[in-house]
Amino acid sequence: MTGLRAAVDAATAQLREVGVPSARADALALLAHVRGVPGAELQRQLVLGATLDAATRQAYDELVAQRRARVPLQHLTGTAPFRHLELAVGPGVFVPRPETELLVDLALRAVADVSAPTVVDLCTGSGAIALAIKHELPAADVSAIELDPMAHAWAARNRDNLGLDVEIDCGAAESAFPDLDGGVDLVVSNPPYIPVGMVPIDPEVRDHDPEVALYGGSEDGLRIPIVVAARAAQLLRPGGVLIMEHADSQGDSLPAALRQQGVWSRVSDHLDLTERPRAVTAVRRAW
Ligand SMILES: C[S@@+](CC[C@H](N)C(=O)[O-])C[C@H]1O[C@@H](n2cnc3c(N)ncnc32)[C@H](O)[C@@H]1O
Repeated sequence: MTGLRAAVDAATAQLREVGVPSARADALALLAHVRGVPGAELQRQLVLGATLDAATRQAYDELVAQRRARVPLQHLTGTAPFRHLELAVGPGVFVPRPETELLVDLALRAVADVSAPTVVDLCTGSGAIALAIKHELPAADVSAIELDPMAHAWAARNRDNLGLDVEIDCGAAESAFPDLDGGVDLVVSNPPYIPVGMVPIDPEVRDHDPEVALYGGSEDGLRIPIVVAARAAQLLRPGGVLIMEHADSQGDSLPAALRQQGVWSRVSDHLDLTERPRAVTAVRRAW
């Protein structure tokens, strides 16, 4: 038998040793996962001086060893929180990030005056944005598309697990939902946008997020975002809104590229909670 606290302390030290960010939070999350309890219950057990049996200790040590090897925490627990949802994630799908939650706030604001908006999520990955919008705005008619069949399978699984009525197609954003042309109120997208050649430093991202989810297809990372925006312009009705995430280095270049497309008005950029430029919004001009 080992004390819970001693196990967490040892795991935290091991994770810190190899530079895992948020080592203690990860050690706690893995222990909560292995014990099958929420974080708050784990804290209670820690305060009460609970112990770990040998089998659970072994399972915990194995997870900590994988985290030391920089397997993403979310792959080890099998879930990622996004807005009010817990999404299933693992190899083959991009882990949704907290900063992307901003897009859902912007989306809800953009369609606040539309009673049953038609919403399209281009490049949906795990389905995070589309499913969160449907969850928070049940009257919306939400469709999403994802190119990568493995990621698409995760999105469909999340949709089914959560029981949310969202159409999720497998295919290219560039040719998404031709039936909806000119009738969509809101297009939201977190496309791949990392400049080609700029390999992420974090092993969790570099080695575990699919490449198709990361790289924007050109030196400035904007080739794919720009073609996705062009498709959004075809989908949107006049006055419809595009919301697109971008890298913090693209807060000028992506808005400039959208202005060049000549179909957008009110192009403006938005900061995330860490005050970094993170998302652009634009309104579809009349034809
Ligand atoms: C940065 S991830 C974002 C995933 C999800 N929207 C999120 O915010 O967590 C980009 C996603 O776009 C997908 N993707 C890349 N190119 C695409 C394309 N041309 N059409 C549709 N999806 C694409 C990738 O497979 C990946 O799942």
